[in-house]
Amino acid sequence: MSTPSYSLLNNATGEKLDLPAIGGTLGPVGLDVGKVYDKTGVFTYDPGFSSTCSTKSAITYIDGDQGILLYRGYPVAQLAEHCSFLEVAYLILNGELPKGQELQNFDSSIRKHTMINENLNRFFEGFNYDAHPMAMLTGVVGSLSAFYHDTTNNKDPRHREIFAHRMIAKIPTIAAAAYKKYYGQPFMYPQNHLDYCSNLLHMMFAVPAEPYHVNPIAAKALDILFTLHADHEQNASTSTVRMAGSTGTNPYAAIAAGIAALWGPSHGGANEAVLTMLDEIGDVKNVQGFMDKVKDKNSGVRLMGFGHRVYKNFDPRATIIREQCHKVLQALKVDDPKLELAMKLEEIALSDDYFKARKLYPNVDFYSGIIYKALGIPVNMFTPMFAVARTVGWVAHWIEMVSDPAMRIARPRQVYTGAAERTVSPIAQR
Ligand code: CMC
Repeated sequence: MSTPSYSLLNNATGEKLDLPAIGGTLGPVGLDVGKVYDKTGVFTYDPGFSSTCSTKSAITYIDGDQGILLYRGYPVAQLAEHCSFLEVAYLILNGELPKGQELQNFDSSIRKHTMINENLNRFFEGFNYDAHPMAMLTGVVGSLSAFYHDTTNNKDPRHREIFAHRMIAKIPTIAAAAYKKYYGQPFMYPQNHLDYCSNLLHMMFAVPAEPYHVNPIAAKALDILFTLHADHEQNASTSTVRMAGSTGTNPYAAIAAGIAALWGPSHGGANEAVLTMLDEIGDVKNVQGFMDKVKDKNSGVRLMGFGHRVYKNFDPRATIIREQCHKVLQALKVDDPKLELAMKLEEIALSDDYFKARKLYPNVDFYSGIIYKALGIPVNMFTPMFAVARTVGWVAHWIEMVSDPAMRIARPRQVYTGAAERTVSPIAQR
């Protein structure tokens, strides 16, 4: 197939600037506009980056129209069915699925890095009892940079690997500590004989006073959810990690920036917002009234868990999670009226012209909260769970970026709309 050719035409002078097309393996080409300003004196303008590629990347591919999500070429549904989250993490980090020994080595390295410096545990004492777990996560992950600065030479592949393993191993420990702080319970140390998700559930739900056995159904459900959340190409939090990381900052600080970006209700905070919304609606009989509000542009109300910047057909993660949701609730014998409410909302939204015209479909967060709830995870821990899973993607993108010899600091420009240059009058004359 021939590469399409594009140019930018100045309508006034007839001058043309050819824009080289950057082709990838799948999906649309990107037009290289890097020289537009130098050659023409104008900027390109794309707030929200609907048409802008910020980088080349070989990690994740999304086709929003077809509802396709591939990690390193593999469909996410196949990975969720056949692989553990740690296998998927290895794949996302290294580009290939691990063979037996490779997985064993990776798994054992992650298990060895699960503890956090004891001084870091004490950081939690400084937070108020009602601090949101995402606030604690942001602060404590940023603080890792003060403790693990022995291997932060971004140019050294071994340093990058140690950072990756530490970050992926410690994030569940930090998330569980944030949970324990919020609920006023003693921290539980990691148990390295447990697999990744069982360990997290143990750190959250065990107490020192009695033995706690992780329900394997819960651990498996979490493992699948984590696979579905592990990466999603250049989303807001990943782009934030890349933006911060492009300055050469400490990688833990870059991950903390990503966590802060994830927290917002338009992004990872949506899973929490979905449950808050279901609580507010309360009963199936109130659904229609709520939908009327959603469609009223002046109300400012959105149907949380619906819509996506990229998916304009369906979110493939939502399809898998929807199925999982029913399975998990059945297996754990949870009869949650929230699920009935969610199904009713979904049914109305999918047949409503407002949603059809705007191509708004349920996204991953519409169902994930219901599963988290069934696992006994409180609402304010939903977004931290997302953060634990997405850490893999953030780390992989950071590594991809800093390994690239052509890495440059990310520095967007603007169309200035403020006052034109003017003269300062001394205060007495104003
Ligand atoms: N409820 C009602 N209307 C909506 C919704 C919604 N959830 N989402 C978009 N719209 C409308 C919006 O009002 C606009 O209508 P109009 O064209 O008449 O002005 C149109 O659809 C396009 O919306 P947009 O805000 O331009 O779309 P966007 O691509 O900038 O935003 C989104 C994407 C995900 C932020 C948005 O759909 C949304 O706010 N959804 C609810 C929050 C949510 O579930 N977020 C999780 C996303 S998936 C997980 C993740 O990425 O972390």
